[in-house]
Amino acid sequence: MLDGELGEAKQTAMGILAALGKIYNAEKMIPVKNAQVAGVSYKTIGDAGLEYLEHLASKGAKVEIPTFMNPAGMDVEQWKGMGIPKDFAEKQIKILDAYKKMGIMSTYTCAPYQIGIRPGKGEHVAWAESSAVAFANSVLGARTNREGGPSALSAGICGVTPYYGLHIDSNRVARVKVKVEAELKTENDFGTMGYYIGKLVGKEYPAFHGIKADEIQLKLLGAAMAASGAVPLFYVKDITPEYVVTDDAEEIVFTENELKEMKEEIDSREKPDLVTLGCPHASIDEIKKVAELVEKKKPTSKFWICTARKTKEEAEKLGYDKIIKEAGGIIVADTCMVVCPLKEMGFNITGANSGKAAKYLPNMCKQKVAYGDIEDILYR
Ligand code: F3S
Repeated sequence: MLDGELGEAKQTAMGILAALGKIYNAEKMIPVKNAQVAGVSYKTIGDAGLEYLEHLASKGAKVEIPTFMNPAGMDVEQWKGMGIPKDFAEKQIKILDAYKKMGIMSTYTCAPYQIGIRPGKGEHVAWAESSAVAFANSVLGARTNREGGPSALSAGICGVTPYYGLHIDSNRVARVKVKVEAELKTENDFGTMGYYIGKLVGKEYPAFHGIKADEIQLKLLGAAMAASGAVPLFYVKDITPEYVVTDDAEEIVFTENELKEMKEEIDSREKPDLVTLGCPHASIDEIKKVAELVEKKKPTSKFWICTARKTKEEAEKLGYDKIIKEAGGIIVADTCMVVCPLKEMGFNITGANSGKAAKYLPNMCKQKVAYGDIEDILYR
């Protein structure tokens, strides 16, 4: 591949992987089961990214293993109704076409594990979306580094990745413990703790004890730590499939005070123009919960629930879509509040229950954030 015997596109992709391998002293390449490519929204990759992808596609680049996409900058079916600017949509469609030409699946989700793509414990993958990386490593026990868009795409094209970092078991050791004394009740509580701990630990792998959590809560926790810090792996005692901590780990204590202060720091206390839920993308259970809530009492703000298209279709079949529409909301597929052009669509204050969304909305979308539990932000 590196010598170009299998074509220019593979040579370019292997060049990227080989360079990464050299930087990190990888002893070899290993096969990966699948790859997840980030850098799909026109908003995040711009014209330079579009040109690069079109160039690769024109050189005949094709993926060798199942490879799927992160959210795009718009719902590919209802973008007009959502007020996405036409020139943005045209560029976005070109990006999606280039990826499709390479054989990449149009999943457009940051939570592939909710639509059946769930690598098992010990399986090697190459994922780029930071929240999905944290989920795959921690909740599923799979092995992936926090890939960049180009390295994940290269892994998809070549079917391998350099063997370093979190692919090697002996590197997957937590050196920070987190003793949780706060009582965490909602997804927002988990996202808030993640926001706080991520900021504190950066790239470390925290090991939590003292909490009970379901998969949705772990998803929100990991996503926030991956955004406020760069945490690619965490453990939760008696819950995650692995829990590996050094004996001399430093211990952080997270109490009700940190929870309250962090929430106060993030929340602008304003009434949102738009409430956005589903960061990371909502599961069918999360959509069901919101549908049940808004059926009883109509929210005081417009709202979106961001999810994968497959999940939206399921919600339509189950009638949640209709209930949500009648309550002033829409189920938005293929995109999210952060990677779509919110500002250009006229929004200034966005509601979010997710720590990750709250971290990115101010910088990437120039939004003030109304932050809190779902009920708080929907009825503020
Ligand atoms: Fe997913 Fe967008 Fe949040 S990509 S993790 S919903 S910022």
